[in-house]
Amino acid sequence: MNLANRVGLVAPSLTLAIDAKAKSLRASGVDVCSFAAGEPDFDTPTHIKEAAKLALDQGKTKYTAAAGIIELRQAIAAKLLRDNQLTYAPEQIIVTNGGKHSLYNLMMALLNEGDEVIIPVPFWVSYPEMVKLAQGVPKFVMTSETNGYKITPDQLEAAITPKTKLFVLNSPSNPTGMVYSPAEIKALAEVLLRHEQVFVVSDEIYEKIIYDGAQHFSIGAFSPEIFARTIISSGFAKAYSMTGWRVGYLAAVPEIIKAATLIQGHSTSNICTFAQYGAIAALNDSQDCVEEMRLSFATKREVMYQGLAQIPNLTCLKPDGAFYLLPNITKLGLTSMEFAERLLEQQQVAIIPGIAFGVDSNVRLSYATDIETIKKGCDRISKFVQSIS
Ligand SMILES: Cc1ncc(COP(=O)(O)O)c(C=O)c1O
Repeated sequence: MNLANRVGLVAPSLTLAIDAKAKSLRASGVDVCSFAAGEPDFDTPTHIKEAAKLALDQGKTKYTAAAGIIELRQAIAAKLLRDNQLTYAPEQIIVTNGGKHSLYNLMMALLNEGDEVIIPVPFWVSYPEMVKLAQGVPKFVMTSETNGYKITPDQLEAAITPKTKLFVLNSPSNPTGMVYSPAEIKALAEVLLRHEQVFVVSDEIYEKIIYDGAQHFSIGAFSPEIFARTIISSGFAKAYSMTGWRVGYLAAVPEIIKAATLIQGHSTSNICTFAQYGAIAALNDSQDCVEEMRLSFATKREVMYQGLAQIPNLTCLKPDGAFYLLPNITKLGLTSMEFAERLLEQQQVAIIPGIAFGVDSNVRLSYATDIETIKKGCDRISKFVQSIS
């Protein structure tokens, strides 16, 4: 069929494909340990669900402003001030259909054909594809394991050309789990300030899932100059276990938000109306649920990290954030896809091949699951690795 050329530009999502395979194996009765999914394993906290139910009962079932109801944008502005020391008016915020949609809207609003977007590798799967859909050009910068998979100021400087329009910063990171320190972020901001045409999008969707005293710092908080060139992308999926609700947001200077709202107004329009009321409760009510989930993830991280550390020929950094580990499989002599496929076939453990994130030397495991599955899965991975070592 004669489809649009843009369809050929994008790669299918490997993460969704492996997750689907694991789910279908499980549906046919196979005992699968899945470390594939990128979502918290908790139900959405009750008070958030109640707020959405109440909204439904009150007839909040009609269209809203395309950028979201003002009460939610006010709650997001208050959160950005409270947690991130960023001052935004509600008009500088657009509520989107998840963080993914925030980023997509941004690429569509900002990029012209041929504009370059700097993406550190390993990257979250959708960044390059969104850039390509918006006719931009992804410019990959390979980070090193010894530097904790973080881009250095020198690497950033070297990657910037007159065509660079945007730098994608994701901390805590999916898939590495790494958290940039305030000093590291400041050093990157200083590089960006030397190049006035470059914006930075700070994807902060994992900001609440952070361990061992690591601190989340938003690049826009350093100075008014960098604030003016920062776009915050975030959402409710990870911190509040609301992946299926599809609520995210962008915050930026008014011109960018106006442009994103224009695009959203002619594509998806507002997100689900009663979901917006649930999101207000998430931000304005007690944050105890966020802390409970964070503590649970901290325990699971420890169990999975210890489980993997005992497997010879696998090496693994211990990240400070998100809910992923990214062990290095180089010593095993398999591609990441071969590793993932064989592990699923032979030991019924689902993981994501690193090639989905731009690195073939690693695989990604999510520990957002129960501890029993983590222990059983690590035992199976150990058996698998021994069988090929
Ligand atoms: C780094 C990162 N950014 C953005 C998103 C988008 O999240 P959502 O669209 O579910 O809000 C994800 C989801 O996995 C992610 O890992």
